[in-house]
Amino acid sequence: MAPKYPDYRDYVIKDGNFVGDFEGMYRDHEFPFDQLRREKWGSEKAVALNLLRRLGARNGVRRVVEVGCGLGMFTDAIASSGFMATGIDISETAIARARQLYTAADFVAADVLDFDQLRRLQPETLVMAEISWYILDRLDELIAFMRTELPECFIIHLLAVYPPGVQEYGRGYFTDLDGILRYFKMNTLESGEVRLPDGRRRTWFLGSWQEVAYQSFT
Ligand SMILES: C[S@@+](CC[C@H](N)C(=O)[O-])C[C@H]1O[C@@H](n2cnc3c(N)ncnc32)[C@H](O)[C@@H]1O
Repeated sequence: MAPKYPDYRDYVIKDGNFVGDFEGMYRDHEFPFDQLRREKWGSEKAVALNLLRRLGARNGVRRVVEVGCGLGMFTDAIASSGFMATGIDISETAIARARQLYTAADFVAADVLDFDQLRRLQPETLVMAEISWYILDRLDELIAFMRTELPECFIIHLLAVYPPGVQEYGRGYFTDLDGILRYFKMNTLESGEVRLPDGRRRTWFLGSWQEVAYQSFT
């Protein structure tokens, strides 16, 4: 059957408005967001894996949950680096495909705001890779939950931001890495960005609610 929209992005944000039909998107498009190619080789993802490996070696992190895992490529990379990794995604179709593609990680179909999943999984690091634009109106709730119920959990946050004049959606929340850091109000252990030729930036940060001494992490 022909897809509802030929462009997968129209299921997500259209004309500056949030649509959020992720299940429809995964049903109609096999590899949206170019997850198995562009996302697989993203330099910020290599940084995130390095940060995780350091957290494992220096801070004893074992349990990692990726929220908004999509087809599971990054959760699998985390599991293949020796962590107990679970990927959560709102789309049942994406999770079914992730289970077929990857066996090293666990996958759960759930909303990121299904906090019982996070309570059950007790992550020591939460990975949020390219999801924040899609949960903007619930980000406060997620941040408050993490700070109060999982205060020792690190957060690794990855998000693409856009050059001035391009971003239509979510400008009131943040537009760049500094804005993202101000929004989360965590103690930032490291942060950075990869600059792409078209002006986009792939930002990343590692945050903690605790006063983690930088020395204990390096
Ligand atoms: C751009 S993809 C990112 C996939 C993967 N993290 C990566 O970096 O390659 C965003 C994912 O977030 C998921 N998502 C959106 N809203 C969600 C929610 N409320 N709860 C869980 N997952 C959600 C979508 O289904 C989609 O798979």
